[in-house]
Amino acid sequence: MDLTPFEPFLDRLGRTGLGPWRETLAERTAFRIGTQAHGDLPRWEQALARLPDLPSGRSRLDGPCVGIEGVGPLAPDLGRSLRDALMAMHPWRKGPFCIQGVHIDTEWRSDLKWDRVAGAIAPLTGRLVLDVGCGNGYHGWRMLGAGAWLVLGIDPTLLFVFQWLALNRYLVRDDLAVLPLGIEDLPGDLTGFDTVFSMGVLYHRRSPIDHLMDLRRLLRPGGELVLETLVLDREGECLLVPPGRYAAMRNVWFIPSVDALAVWLGRCGFAGIRVVDVTRTGPEEQRSTDWMRFQSLPDHLDPADSSRTIEGHPAPVRAVLIANRPESRP
Ligand SMILES: C[S@@+](CC[C@H](N)C(=O)[O-])C[C@H]1O[C@@H](n2cnc3c(N)ncnc32)[C@H](O)[C@@H]1O
Repeated sequence: MDLTPFEPFLDRLGRTGLGPWRETLAERTAFRIGTQAHGDLPRWEQALARLPDLPSGRSRLDGPCVGIEGVGPLAPDLGRSLRDALMAMHPWRKGPFCIQGVHIDTEWRSDLKWDRVAGAIAPLTGRLVLDVGCGNGYHGWRMLGAGAWLVLGIDPTLLFVFQWLALNRYLVRDDLAVLPLGIEDLPGDLTGFDTVFSMGVLYHRRSPIDHLMDLRRLLRPGGELVLETLVLDREGECLLVPPGRYAAMRNVWFIPSVDALAVWLGRCGFAGIRVVDVTRTGPEEQRSTDWMRFQSLPDHLDPADSSRTIEGHPAPVRAVLIANRPESRP
């Protein structure tokens, strides 16, 4: 793969206030594409090349199932080759997506998270948005549906970049891309986003305070942070650092209480900090499906007590906090 599929997006980005960083982002994307040697890469490349041409349809970015509505059902052979090519990009974690009758029933009902977030944030109309750890870009499409001018999604997991490429083959937009970058790959002086999302990322970071500092620097003065993360559902300032796995995940480092998280945000220079949602994650939101056949949340909870993980920790609860970069540093 080369940079070609990312170029329309990079060109649009070049015409915004983020223009000075276009070349560096392009170089770093090219470097990541060129140096990632994942064993499944040939399978994903073949799947992308096998995606069939489809009759034109209407894009849907404003409902739970992102995708393309056709005028009628696809011919059975065409529907089968579309499904097979998309299925070759298993596992599909974030979604759902509906492409002309093919329903990608992903592990996560990411629309439920979007519903918890969308009503609480500043309107996205005309905004420059960064989505850190965006997965395959599901929420990015919803952000476009909500009127964002440009959404830069970054995620170092190459499979998710391929899934975005597959979807963009049909949705054909130059205002969203998933670049194969971690937050640490972004230029150190990059700034100017109106809204920055970090959803499902903080607990994976070994230095959560540095992550919050990075998010603040990426925002323009007055810009809005939307932070979604695992929390410990307890009063006061508490913190869980799992000694081993958490709900079978090896890379969970810090699970603060909501009060502790608000203190962290304040110490990192955010203002206007508010908690807009606290929700326990249930099997209606995260489960195995045909499109994600590995184990999922129900396998990682204590079968005798679903309020505990299999390791005995409190079961996953997630919070959404919103905060602003102050207009000027006091
Ligand atoms: C739990 S998923 C959350 C996906 C999506 N934001 C959501 O809320 O549904 C965490 C994502 O963070 C990505 N990630 C891991 N390390 C990262 C890093 N250093 N920078 C940016 N994203 C990272 C992972 O590849 C994964 O897609």
